[in-house]
Amino acid sequence: MTHAEARALFPVLDRYAYLNAGTLGPLARTTLEAMEERARYDQEQGRGGKAWFESMLELRVRVRQKVADLIGATPETLALTSSTTDGCNIVVAGLGLQPGDEVVTTNSEHPGLLLPLAVSGATVRVADVANRPAAEAPERIASMVGPKTRLLALSHVLWTTGQVMPVQELKRETGLPVLVDGAQSVGAIPVEVGEVDYYTVSGQKWLCGPEPLGALYIRDPDSLRIAFPAYWAQASIEPDGTFIPRENAGRFDTGWIATHMLAGWEAALDLRPDWCFERAAEVTEHCRRALAESYEVIGEPGQGTLASFVPAGDPAETAAQLYARGVVVRDLPGTGWVRASCGWWTNEDDVERLVGGVNR
Ligand SMILES: Cc1ncc(COP(=O)(O)O)c(C=O)c1O
Repeated sequence: MTHAEARALFPVLDRYAYLNAGTLGPLARTTLEAMEERARYDQEQGRGGKAWFESMLELRVRVRQKVADLIGATPETLALTSSTTDGCNIVVAGLGLQPGDEVVTTNSEHPGLLLPLAVSGATVRVADVANRPAAEAPERIASMVGPKTRLLALSHVLWTTGQVMPVQELKRETGLPVLVDGAQSVGAIPVEVGEVDYYTVSGQKWLCGPEPLGALYIRDPDSLRIAFPAYWAQASIEPDGTFIPRENAGRFDTGWIATHMLAGWEAALDLRPDWCFERAAEVTEHCRRALAESYEVIGEPGQGTLASFVPAGDPAETAAQLYARGVVVRDLPGTGWVRASCGWWTNEDDVERLVGGVNR
């Protein structure tokens, strides 16, 4: 697939310089068609009968396998969820943290992780990594670890600056359980779950699936308590509600996921070209350089696929004006920044429209 062919997959690119995959990725024509086709099939089958039921289960098997392949995991270690936030809640609640326990995180996390931590009962210790050199992050985070630390919980790629965090290094150096928020990494940069314990996936961002979709990697499913049991995700259930969990991470699957959403996600997972990461990295650097000619660009080059910058005017107004000019980006409340997300579908013309649109 050439780059021009890749772009032609996404109808939104005919109208917009679409630079917001950090929130929601663009939907491909084939993804939309797969969703429509599955919704039609569901209606034709009456959402009932053995064939329909089995086709739904097979779809779940295929999606689980494809997401697992993407992050170097096995399907047995992957739960299907509706979001990264779901994954963070499942892990944090499942660990049964108590007052007196400590969790170490950073001051650049998204509420999808912060909220589960806030209700965990543990004391949250926050490492200052915002606007600091990327090379200082390991030391800054490690320095917050103490004898009461039960969990390290942080993003692989910070949603504010795109900075890549040293999650594998932190796991190796501390030996602590590590929960990685993968919302801005999976689909944007190469990811291997490696040695970390928990790794979340958002389906609707860099993987270009419909929303809301997600997954959660759990290295050792037996070691985590099931805090939010879905009735059909267990091996067997007694009349009094006691249950025997499935043997693998499927026991952490959240509630029902609409089949047409899963069909759309499968189609989106199938269309990713081999060159996706290389291209996304290149165009991100191009975007950062182009913005830097007129604006302060936040963070360091060579990180994730986000380019945040300080606009001349109010960031929310700038984002709204850009939208009116056909450029989709977002502001980051509380920072004074606007964030552009560059994917493998992004081209130089999108970047020019962004820079031209802000300059006007
Ligand atoms: C770093 C990060 N974590 C979590 C989330 C929430 O993702 P989800 O909607 O899949 O829960 C986001 C969404 O923008 C994010 O950027």
